[in-house]
Amino acid sequence: MKALVLSGGKGTRLRPLTYTTAKQLIPVANKPILHFVLEQIATAGIEDVGVIISPETGGMVQDALGGGAGFGLRLTFIVQDEPLGLAHAVKTARAFLGDSPFLMFLGDNLVQGGVAPLAADFRRDTSTSIIQLKKVPDPRAFGVAVLDGGGRVARLVEKPKEFISDLALVGIYAFSPAVHAAIERIKPSWRGELEITDAIQELINMGHAVAPRLLEGWWLDTGKKDDILEANRVVLDEFTRRRVEGTVDEASQVVGRVEIEAGAVVERSVIRGPAVVGAGAKIVDSFIGPYTAIGRGTAVEDCSVEHSVILDNCRLRAVHHIEDSLIGSGARLTRDDSRRRVLRFFIGDECQITLS
Ligand code: DAU
Repeated sequence: MKALVLSGGKGTRLRPLTYTTAKQLIPVANKPILHFVLEQIATAGIEDVGVIISPETGGMVQDALGGGAGFGLRLTFIVQDEPLGLAHAVKTARAFLGDSPFLMFLGDNLVQGGVAPLAADFRRDTSTSIIQLKKVPDPRAFGVAVLDGGGRVARLVEKPKEFISDLALVGIYAFSPAVHAAIERIKPSWRGELEITDAIQELINMGHAVAPRLLEGWWLDTGKKDDILEANRVVLDEFTRRRVEGTVDEASQVVGRVEIEAGAVVERSVIRGPAVVGAGAKIVDSFIGPYTAIGRGTAVEDCSVEHSVILDNCRLRAVHHIEDSLIGSGARLTRDDSRRRVLRFFIGDECQITLS
């Protein structure tokens, strides 16, 4: 069995961050989402992985992943010239996939418990494709599936305008090689994309077996700023263990599950977990609250930050009550007086902001 990871696309909903990085490389808990994806694939016992990349951000993705040896994987990078849809990405990867059954994983999705259970189900019968479904409160942003009385997949619709089901298609699928013939038969949707959802419907129409699999744990689709913050919260909550390798002075307090990487310095500050402080970061006279990730080389002085993702090499000074914020790498955020109020930020890479 092979795997196909989709790491192309334009990432328009995460601009300005995606002007300078691929959306799949934005870190949660200081680790790119794509790293979690590859770790989950390796844990499922799959070694041969194709990675769809775009001409714009493909170089960054390749640099971030290398050949895959670090993950115990063999990676083949496949350039998709234009983001013409998930099924188009599969078409582009046809030479790599051959007639192998494969697991397809959208590079900005994460599921609790990884993909090993799905891969195990699929290995038992690789002629039955599997879709993973999750009940969501607002299904309009997703592909959805309608099940019949016997729990079989009756119908699939991409981004339904009218309510037909609250079972969203999670961006992780297992496909028999029959999917290629189905893709050949579909036409682009109203948004001009070859939809994988339509290809799955076509698989069913052609008489191939498609089994639904209900996902019990959390599912994170990190397409927008608030999704990244939610992913950061969930991942910190689940994976953070207390590990203090940096230097913490006597006047500081580190409370709960906090990771402080080697080379980070904490002075006269309180860090309340779950939180991570990256290597080489400096936290002085500050409060770092729960669900916060401070990137590598970032300096925070006289600030309070909660439930936020601050990327690498930022400078934050004298700004209080930073909450629910996603701050791109290299950003500078300073204040020249001491008035305090809650501020919310969504700031792109290399921004410089001075508040007065
Ligand atoms: O997140 C789950 C949803 O993903 C499913 O419920 C939908 O049925 C499915 O169509 C997909 O919807 P999105 O509109 O959220 O897909 P998005 O355009 O965000 O692309 C998902 C990933 O695939 C993202 O990492 C970028 C990558 N991609 C996307 C396209 C359109 C490619 O590599 N190539 C592409 O052509």
